[in-house]
Amino acid sequence: MARPLLALNWKLNKGPAEAARWAQHLVGRLPEPLPADVAVLAPFVSLQALADALNLSPVTWGSQDVSEHEKGAYTGEVSAAMLAEICCKYAVIGHSERRQYHGESDETAGRKVKAAQRAGLIPILCVGEALDIREDGRAESHTLGQLDVALREVEVSDPKDLVIAYEPIWAIGTGRTATPDDAETMGVAMRGFLNGRYGAETAAKVRLLYGGSVKPDNIAALCGRQDVDGALVGGASLELDSVVAMLDALA
Ligand code: PGA
Repeated sequence: MARPLLALNWKLNKGPAEAARWAQHLVGRLPEPLPADVAVLAPFVSLQALADALNLSPVTWGSQDVSEHEKGAYTGEVSAAMLAEICCKYAVIGHSERRQYHGESDETAGRKVKAAQRAGLIPILCVGEALDIREDGRAESHTLGQLDVALREVEVSDPKDLVIAYEPIWAIGTGRTATPDDAETMGVAMRGFLNGRYGAETAAKVRLLYGGSVKPDNIAALCGRQDVDGALVGGASLELDSVVAMLDALA
């Protein structure tokens, strides 16, 4: 089983000053040994502050989106190379909020995954179904269909260069968490898909995260499963105490 990844998705929270303070405090409170890899996924403008504060720590940082383009007339976009320049390790791609509010498709997500990989960033590709799809019994086919399209042209030469987050939309920010069995079932299905696409060796090593109302009191049960290699955490990532409590729970 891969070392777990605790990915903290701040969403539209914490500007540079708050991010810097928060990161300094986090470094002072990290348990030793650190039971998981930790990544802070911050708004673009806060990433340099994280780079400065976390530079000498084991904690990494990354963005919540990335442009599919490298440069040019794309007002408002931020390229993967720019993020690599400030030593981002990860870029979240295809989060359901990007899909919902910005019309991002699986095809867009696929192009962004490739752009991230070209610049040496590790994409955290998000997939997952809405409630009506789950109630229809189509959660697995929907989620694997998203992966199929987004990864159609993506090559994986090193399994460390791809992370997939299963985030059922009905569990995001709702307090309603998938059960460890639900997360594990989807993890097994995604592993099977990756096996078919990239072969057993790669499939076994790509990290599969669960996201959706993860918090200190459920993270250990979720991440204790064979095919759940960590968590993508929104709400519970904002308070330092709850991040430290999640790390303690993973220890
Ligand atoms: P949540 O968000 O932990 O607040 O449910 C998870 C996410 O959207 O990544």
